[in-house]
Amino acid sequence: MNEAHLRICSSPEWASYVADELMPWVLASYELGDDVLELGPGPGLTTDVLRRLVPQLTAVEIDTSLATQLARRLVGTNVTVLPGDGTQLQFEAGRFSAVTLFTMLHHVPSAGLQDRLLAEVRRVLRPAGLVVGTDGLDTAQRREVHVGDTFIPVDPATFSDRLSAAGFTNPVVEQSGDRFRFAALAGRQEHLQALGPTRAGPDPEPRSRRKGVTPSSTTRLAEAISKAIAAVELAPLRSRISRSCGRR
Ligand SMILES: C[S@@+](CC[C@H](N)C(=O)[O-])C[C@H]1O[C@@H](n2cnc3c(N)ncnc32)[C@H](O)[C@@H]1O
Repeated sequence: MNEAHLRICSSPEWASYVADELMPWVLASYELGDDVLELGPGPGLTTDVLRRLVPQLTAVEIDTSLATQLARRLVGTNVTVLPGDGTQLQFEAGRFSAVTLFTMLHHVPSAGLQDRLLAEVRRVLRPAGLVVGTDGLDTAQRREVHVGDTFIPVDPATFSDRLSAAGFTNPVVEQSGDRFRFAALAGRQEHLQALGPTRAGPDPEPRSRRKGVTPSSTTRLAEAISKAIAAVELAPLRSRISRSCGRR
């Protein structure tokens, strides 16, 4: 990340946006499970929220300096921070219950490498494991923030197909404003009830009746997110610059 971008992605305004709006929208009612991998934590503002939602979190960051700083900051917590490249993960196949990709894919320097990263995510997920994440669309302001930095925007219109090509099933890709969120499962058809409606058709069944997503699990996640937000004492600030990291 360039210096301005890094400053934005470390700011209290970004922390507030991530915890109050972005992560609740992206995580929705999905269950992350017991062993979660975050790719591209950067300064760790997404990590700060995730680590309060799951028992065990591993964060892999390609920038060794950022990885070292985050590892130092989170020593003694439930997070293991490792320097590494999401396109070449050092984990055994089928280890993780979920993998999260928050505003990081556009930093992977080619569509081919992004696809390789998706295939690696698929490899390290358990059967029925969840990949969930978000990225920003290609806008003039986002290009400005990324001057001198890697910026290979992901087109949401083709991302479903790319997830399928990487070995995921029933991908869900949904755009809102200048962002999109996505989710997909590594696994067989019968494991897919936990996912929301696909772009291909209407929701066949109310979410609360689907196996894996019960009203109580939804409530638990909402409560956990509220607690996470309170725990990191995020001020409800709204500034234009805060959105630049990934939003406007
Ligand atoms: C824009 S930051 C997002 C940080 C954080 N997820 C957030 O939303 O606040 C993207 C991060 O992804 C990291 N990254 C890029 N390519 C990566 C790769 N192949 N493997 C792991 N991390 C990567 C970058 O170094 C950067 O720290």
